[in-house]
Amino acid sequence: MTSPAKLDAHALRSDFAYLDELVNEQPMAYLDSASSTQKPRQVLDAMREFYEHSYANVHRGVYRLAERATEGYEGARRTVAGFVNAPQTREVIFTRSATEAINLVAYAWGLDNLGPGDLVVVTELEHHANFVPWQYVASRTGASFRHIPIDDLGELQLDSLDSLAAEGNVKVVATGLVSNSLGTINPVERLAAWAHEQGAIMVVDAAQAAPHRPIDVQALGCDVLAFSSHKLCGPSGVGALWGRASLLETMNPFNLGGEMIRSVALDRTTFNELPFKFEAGTPAIAEAFGFGAAIDYISEIGLAAIEAHEHELTAYALDRLGELDFVRVFGPPIERRAGIVSFDVEGVHPHDVAQILDWEGVSVRAGHHCTQPLMTRLGVAATTRASFYLYSLPEEVDRLVTGLVKVKRSLG
Ligand SMILES: Cc1ncc(COP(=O)(O)O)c(C=O)c1O
Repeated sequence: MTSPAKLDAHALRSDFAYLDELVNEQPMAYLDSASSTQKPRQVLDAMREFYEHSYANVHRGVYRLAERATEGYEGARRTVAGFVNAPQTREVIFTRSATEAINLVAYAWGLDNLGPGDLVVVTELEHHANFVPWQYVASRTGASFRHIPIDDLGELQLDSLDSLAAEGNVKVVATGLVSNSLGTINPVERLAAWAHEQGAIMVVDAAQAAPHRPIDVQALGCDVLAFSSHKLCGPSGVGALWGRASLLETMNPFNLGGEMIRSVALDRTTFNELPFKFEAGTPAIAEAFGFGAAIDYISEIGLAAIEAHEHELTAYALDRLGELDFVRVFGPPIERRAGIVSFDVEGVHPHDVAQILDWEGVSVRAGHHCTQPLMTRLGVAATTRASFYLYSLPEEVDRLVTGLVKVKRSLG
């Protein structure tokens, strides 16, 4: 294997205007990319140009602006399909977000395919977006809702699978590829193989993975995969669901209205083909175009290079935080961890940690990170989380560490 070309984070930073703002004479250290990423000028320029010269509603008009808009929107769909190595472009559905993509599957597939005696299996470290819809649909259909537990390092305990399988018909296994709270990289290929042995579908939440590592839905062996644009340098308000065509074709629509129909009469409506069956109403047109531009931007840098950069930074962060005896880091070892580090500062509430770090120009997230069952398992109400992206630097990790020493001195 050849190692990826290294990315030059210093050079890439000139693409990001947020760095022009100084706090205490230094640019902000934005360490909250797991929540949402900053946007490069290339994506913002592409969206502005699209709005100015190619904007109209899509799929409807025969005039040139409408044709350009439709080509921009459908071109973005081809870009998304290529990005995840989808076998067919029509398998990509634009949604509002990863959350909506998962809800689409939970409602459109779950309500029709689950019932008493069936098991819906999630994980203990799941983001609420891939937890609550399944819990809800299980309760609506009478299916049982189960989870794969984690060990103390935040890694899935796969030896629990046999006993889960003995409890009923496993019909769906829903798991994140990367945990947004701990950075754990889950063994999705193995889980997909197990899910298929049970006759279940495999749902992958790639919201924290797609921005940071190459994704290949065929290699993962999943049936559906969801992610959002705003976590990969694109605009918010748009996300994608990839689904195996043979599965999507069996599913009833999720939202109903314009665009998703083939014909409507007073007594009956028939539905459009893929992907339009799942895209009711006017979509987020320019945002989808911006999503495509963001994928082009990060693809040009190289997903393997982004992954390697974040791996190096995370290893450095784990080392530096390890120097602080008042900091407890959660999560797995570096080999099985993406660019996310959650920790606890002894005697200081995470919100106070984040507030004081902000005074130092360091932006981190404090809270339960939409993973309350995981927080319960860890025995904490909240953590402080630093997360990295292609524009993050080791100097920013140093500023985090210096800031934490100040936090401890003033509040600990
Ligand atoms: C692992 C994971 N899944 C799903 C989501 C939901 O993403 P969105 O809010 O874009 O729908 C997030 C967002 O933080 C996430 O981290």
